[in-house]
Order: sequence, then structure tokens, then C-alpha cells
Amino acid sequence: MRLDHCTWFEVDAYLTRCRGIIIPVGSTEQHGPLGLIGTDSHVARAAAERVGDITGALVAPALTVTPAPFNLSFPGTISINAELFSCMLKEIVTGLAGQGFRRFYFLNAHGANLESLTALRCDDPGTRVMTRSWWDFSPVQTMRDDLYGDWEGVHATPSEIAITQIDHRRIAVSEESREPPARLDRATLTSLTGDRHGPPDGHRRRYPDGRVGSHSALARPEHGRQLLDLVVRCVVEDYNQFVSDDSIADQAE
Ligand code: NI
Repeated sequence: MRLDHCTWFEVDAYLTRCRGIIIPVGSTEQHGPLGLIGTDSHVARAAAERVGDITGALVAPALTVTPAPFNLSFPGTISINAELFSCMLKEIVTGLAGQGFRRFYFLNAHGANLESLTALRCDDPGTRVMTRSWWDFSPVQTMRDDLYGDWEGVHATPSEIAITQIDHRRIAVSEESREPPARLDRATLTSLTGDRHGPPDGHRRRYPDGRVGSHSALARPEHGRQLLDLVVRCVVEDYNQFVSDDSIADQAE
């Protein structure tokens, strides 16, 4: 159930039954020649809304403007600093906790969000905050590996682009984007986890078309459907587990 499609009366009634909320978190940044600027936000939103449909959980509007300073040399990227992002997260959970929400499940799709998300705490008694990135689940990692191997890379990945191809435009593959980018070794790929990239100018010089070890042209909408179905199955189980220890009945006593 989308929060922005509810009336406040409906949210009030929801809170008498359950007190969890799913908050999708993406980015607004370049994703190479074949990925939409909103790739991460589209992926987080698509997964969260499907999980909401299955579990009945409320799904907040996606947080789409987040830290991506390393991509500012590519036109279209919008970035805020990590400090501001952390403040925003804190205000969101504090405000919702004041209304009675107790379980905050952040469904993340952008590595550079993780530092602020994992540091986030809510001070209200009885609240819990959890962050999962859609790629965290081992069956999902296995599927990405089976589909693309090392060509998954770390940015503008074929898997994230495949997921956006379900609901959004598919960009035509050009002569240049048909070719793979420079291959990165495992050590380099690992060192870039969490988007630990340098300043924007150097980042664009190193990765001129925006792909970071990812062969985006391998993306197919049918892969996207398989991946998203699996992500949703994993998140449904994880979310249900996360909210299972919050008993409204206990609270009412
Ligand atoms: Ni991305």
C-alpha cells in the first residue's frame, strides 16, 4: 500500500494493525549510456511496492535525492552531502515514530547511501531500524553471478538496468555501448563496494562513459523480471521477520 495514495484516516487505521513501514532509497545519478538517471530509485521503488502489495505494508515515497558526489561531473546527477542525508533520515524516522510507527525498513539500491543508513538510529522507545540493499540476499547474488559473472561490475550494472527495463524505457544499444567497458579485477571491484569513488573529475576521467566495470548492454527485461521476483521473495520474508516481534496486542495491555 503506497503511503502517498492513502488518506491520513487510512494510515491511522493501519497503525492499529501494524506499525511497520518500508522506505525505498535510491539516487538520481548517471548510470552510463544505457541506464536511466533514476535507475536506483526505480529499482528500490519497484521492489518496495511489490513487497507492499504482498505483505500489506505501507510503502513511503522513495528517497531519490541522496549522496552521489563522485558522479557530479556527469550531467543530470543530483547529489546532497552525507551529513544532510543523515539529518533527513533522522527527521523522517523521528516524525513517523511520533505518529506511532515502530519498525522502519529501508530498502536500498545505492551503495553511497549505506554509511548514513547503517548509522541511523531512532531514539523513540520500542523502535527498530533496518537497512537492506536489494543485492544483499545470497540467492540474488547467485542469480546476478549466473547471469553476468564479472561483467556485473559495480555501476550501471546489467542487473539493475534489467530491473528498470520492466517498467521503464529501454535505451537502444549504440555501437559504443555494445562494447564492454574496461574490465576491472576482483580486488578493484571489491575496493569500490559502497561507492568508494574519488572526486568527480577524476571519476569521470577514469570511467568516461559512466560504467564502472559493468557491461550494461547484457541487460534484458526477462532477466529483470527474474531478478525482481527473487528480490521481492527475499524481502517479503525478511520484512515479515523484522516486524514479527512488534506486537500491537502487547502494547495495548
Ligand atoms: Ni545504481
